Amino acid sequence: MTNPKLGTCYYPEHWPREMWEKDALRMVELGLSWVRIGEFCWSRIEPQEGSFDFEWLDAVVEVLRRHNLDIIMGTPTATPPRWVLDKYPDMLAVDKMGNERKFGSRRHYCFSHLGYRKEAARITREIANRYGSTVQAWQTDNEYGCHDTTLSYSMAALIGFRDWLAQKYQSPNALNKAWGNVFWSMEINEFSDIELPNLTVTEANPSHVMDFRRYSSDQVVAFNSIQVNILREFTSKPLIHNYMGRITAFDHYDVGADLDIASWDSYPLGFLEMVSDADESFKAKYAYQGDPDFQSFHHDLYRAVGRDRWWVMEQQPGPVNWASYNPAPLKGMVRLWSWEAIAHGAETVCYFRWRQAPFAQEQMHAGLLRVDDEPAPAWEEIVELNDEINAITTIEQLTSDVALIFDYPSQWAWEIQPQALNFDYFHEVFDTYSCLKKLGINVDICSSDDKKLNDYKIVFAPSLFLTNNIIENCSAHLVLGPRFNSKTKDFQIPNPLPPNVSGLNVVVERVETIRQNMSRRLKKPGSVIRWIEDISHDASVIEETECGDPIVLQQNNKTYLAGCLDQEAKKRLFKKLLKDQNIEFLEMPEGVRQRTTKNHRFIWNYSNESQNIDEIMLAPADVKIIDI
Ligand code: GAL
Repeated sequence: MTNPKLGTCYYPEHWPREMWEKDALRMVELGLSWVRIGEFCWSRIEPQEGSFDFEWLDAVVEVLRRHNLDIIMGTPTATPPRWVLDKYPDMLAVDKMGNERKFGSRRHYCFSHLGYRKEAARITREIANRYGSTVQAWQTDNEYGCHDTTLSYSMAALIGFRDWLAQKYQSPNALNKAWGNVFWSMEINEFSDIELPNLTVTEANPSHVMDFRRYSSDQVVAFNSIQVNILREFTSKPLIHNYMGRITAFDHYDVGADLDIASWDSYPLGFLEMVSDADESFKAKYAYQGDPDFQSFHHDLYRAVGRDRWWVMEQQPGPVNWASYNPAPLKGMVRLWSWEAIAHGAETVCYFRWRQAPFAQEQMHAGLLRVDDEPAPAWEEIVELNDEINAITTIEQLTSDVALIFDYPSQWAWEIQPQALNFDYFHEVFDTYSCLKKLGINVDICSSDDKKLNDYKIVFAPSLFLTNNIIENCSAHLVLGPRFNSKTKDFQIPNPLPPNVSGLNVVVERVETIRQNMSRRLKKPGSVIRWIEDISHDASVIEETECGDPIVLQQNNKTYLAGCLDQEAKKRLFKKLLKDQNIEFLEMPEGVRQRTTKNHRFIWNYSNESQNIDEIMLAPADVKIIDI
């Protein structure tokens, strides 16, 4: 167990060679240990097909290594140069409307394109061969799925999808049955009759779309594993991918299974602005800090994806360029975000980027250094952080009493069939997470087939699409619903009706969804929102609506939620569940969050006001580390 390291994302190809030496010196002075390079530099190492120029990259590697900086080398496959496109004009992804997504930015490839896969394998082999024994870690590609690039409706995808379906179903009739193609005379006679599920007159068959989502996720896994297999021929150093927050279109657990470490790119202010479901007043209150739970949700998720080994590969150091509004972080937040990650077990936090670029798309994105080479405001925070890291005793993670399942297929399923404009799986899971974090407890995020689920006292599985044997036989207290196990794997309504869980005599007889402003009040304070199930049961009723409809039921070691609860009702229920299992909790003051590790209690304040917890005063953006 070593204490966490800091690093940065560096683009030496953007700067004159004379700057490299001084850059390396300053990185060391700042206390950085890791430098990520290379992930977008293909046009500089292979300007024409087969004609390589590694001289400059060799020199960069030499400079960084001479200063004892560890290198993460990126495979450059997220940015194929123009000539690759000339070779494979049909390698571009195609959007849902049938438009080709053109050259001129990045991620301009379709995961299904076999020619591009070959090309990506070739450049990976070149670079792995050259630096396999020199660098200390590898990053595959860059942010799979970012910019909505997992799904592609290209010819390559169509060919691949037909083949995938033929292997899965073996006969057109089996597919017809699984999808229910008799409906609207959609039956096929050959696998070549299958189309991609876009541009249909009205909605496509959900079973069709679900298979396309599974197929598309599998292509990301396959694309990544080609690189992994090549890299492993040349190195035993850790292989990493940098996932992007709130990207759910492919199964990160599946990609992660082939890698050694998971990492993610943490842009708290950009995420609050662009992907948060929060209302305007919350966004204004946290504009300079980010959502207090969004970062830790991803830290906990990627700890699971990386099987306990995870990093922040890109940490926001100042204003970004890509959100609708791009405020600067409140003073102290870069330090806070870094400590928060470390408290959750990050082995390394790398700041994106070393120096702000004066040109191209990200010229308005802050770095640790300004364009004129003077330190940007985050610099001082990192100096302070580095001193603190050097002074802290070893941080060791604890297993929590509480697990929360996050499941990618459930996200796809409920995106395909939300049944209400405001129903979103990610939101349901995140809302559960956020409520638990406001009670000050550690939460482990798990996949639905994590064998460790038995080790927890409580397992929350909000809106899980499919049950499985591990969940069925889990000895933890299970908190299920709504929508739990409410489809078959083929995306049909099961008979017997859901949730169909042994030991829980609850049957969902009908579901309805309601508008945002039409919540149904509970007898106790709080409401059911968005999704409501009519059920028959012989369980104990914990919560019911004012009209007496049962909403939270308990039987044996299971709790079933027959609707979405607002935060008030959730909090009351979760406190009861925690108490019943003898799990200690503490209500957090506004914006304050904490995490306990074996020897430390970390507390931090996301709010823009001072807060007091257990007689400990926290100024805005403050972090306190208490030895326990
Ligand atoms: C990430 C990406 C980086 C950079 C950064 C800007 O999504 O991996 O290359 O674009 O965003 O915030």
